[in-house]
Amino acid sequence: MPPTPQLISVEQCENLAISEVWKHYRRTINPGQVELISSFGFGQELIRSAKGCTLTTHQGKQILDVTGGIGVLNHGHNHPRILAARERFAAKDAMEVHKNYFSPYLAALSHNIAALLPGDLEISYLANSGAEAVEGAIKMAYKAHQGRRSVLLHSDISYHGKLLGAASASASAELHFRYPEIPGCHSFHYNDLDSVTSMVESHQKSDGSSDIYGIIIEPMSASTLQQCDENFLIRLRSLCDQQGIVLIYDEVFTGWGKTGELFHFMRYAQAERLLPDVLVTSKSLGGGKASLSAFVTRTPVFKTAYGNLRDALLHSSTYNGFGEECVTALEAINTLVDEGLVERAQTIGGQLEQGLEQLLQRYPEKISARRGCGALQGLALQGGPGLLASLIRLLPLSVANDERFLQKLITAAVIQELYQQHDILTYYADNREILLMAAPSLVISEEQLERYLSALDTTLAQSLSLLCLRFVQSKLFSRFIAPYRKPAVGEQLPDA
Ligand SMILES: Cc1ncc(COP(=O)(O)O)c(C=O)c1O
Repeated sequence: MPPTPQLISVEQCENLAISEVWKHYRRTINPGQVELISSFGFGQELIRSAKGCTLTTHQGKQILDVTGGIGVLNHGHNHPRILAARERFAAKDAMEVHKNYFSPYLAALSHNIAALLPGDLEISYLANSGAEAVEGAIKMAYKAHQGRRSVLLHSDISYHGKLLGAASASASAELHFRYPEIPGCHSFHYNDLDSVTSMVESHQKSDGSSDIYGIIIEPMSASTLQQCDENFLIRLRSLCDQQGIVLIYDEVFTGWGKTGELFHFMRYAQAERLLPDVLVTSKSLGGGKASLSAFVTRTPVFKTAYGNLRDALLHSSTYNGFGEECVTALEAINTLVDEGLVERAQTIGGQLEQGLEQLLQRYPEKISARRGCGALQGLALQGGPGLLASLIRLLPLSVANDERFLQKLITAAVIQELYQQHDILTYYADNREILLMAAPSLVISEEQLERYLSALDTTLAQSLSLLCLRFVQSKLFSRFIAPYRKPAVGEQLPDA
């Protein structure tokens, strides 16, 4: 008889020590992830609870979360209305899967999305991740041309996700390994109409029609914080109209109020002249509790692609419109509207912009730029002369010459300092350059934002070289020395 496997129960799981969690991550999840997370000084603690913008560790330490869950937490952690809607759904023994029955939750959710979006952007397909929704949108653009066109254009700073199809349309340095791609993906310079036009001209078929089935773009790039001009988007829209190209906006990150409008493209005065054919959304659609995404299509485009019985189910997936996910999103959207969180993002944006601009004035040698708007802003940090330069000289030439490495080191050192000295959690965005991000939930208070800005001020007032040295030292310590340290009485150390 094989031995009975030792399974961990939910109750035991709630009491696992950090060392055990590390052990399971190393063995059954991803050893590299443990290395990376722990090199920032995070990952040494477990979080007991999370509310609004505050995380509480098992030891009772309170951490201010300025990451906004990387786009997921516009409502903050565990919004009471969203929790209540989920509890209500669970208490009813409600049906989750409904392939043979229609779901009122999916119906209401799709209705509300359509009601909030401009124009005829009204047909939603619900999926689970951003990349999955991006791929659904690309597939639909291809199908809308019945497979007669073969080219998809994306920008040269694009990030659309890590599945094979979404990655094919991504140019971000974060995806440094090239997997097999969907054929026909080409890039243009972001926000540069001449570049798009020349790509369109070079992809004409012999009969003079375009060979491009779709163009995908982030109206605001969440990883570089660059934005498209209104004029660029209007002209892009009219180019797509002339050439019959399906225009896809990826607002996976920027949607649901993050940048100060419900969706970023809605900020433009002439928004109705630059409507996409397909809008991709995810992240805060799930209210921080459900993994959910959607691509929302204009009715005529949807009908062209899937508007006949034979093709109606050509695109589907098991978890499409799962009950509790839908009720969560329904309440998340309604909460966003009822609590004026989109307007709140504008106020946050004003306070952040003013505070970060002041820091830029105060530390011009350390900050090269501030970018972004609403609750999605960031700083590009830069190294000064002196000790930092000597530190760099100690590194192998290839690494020392890599601008991104230097920026990564400085930004990581600042993130570690904010965490260790101020109990503030931040992150960096990784694309052509590295940006220190301020992307808080839309429920962050004025005082919490002030606390963040003042901690950043104190951090930047220090020598960045020393912060970097401290960061490198602590990394060496956590990697090579801490594992051999003798534990204090009763203390459990993470396994090496
Ligand atoms: C703009 C954008 N598109 C797509 C994605 C992919 O989403 P997911 O990670 O859920 O697949 C992301 C993720 O950060 C994103 O920021």
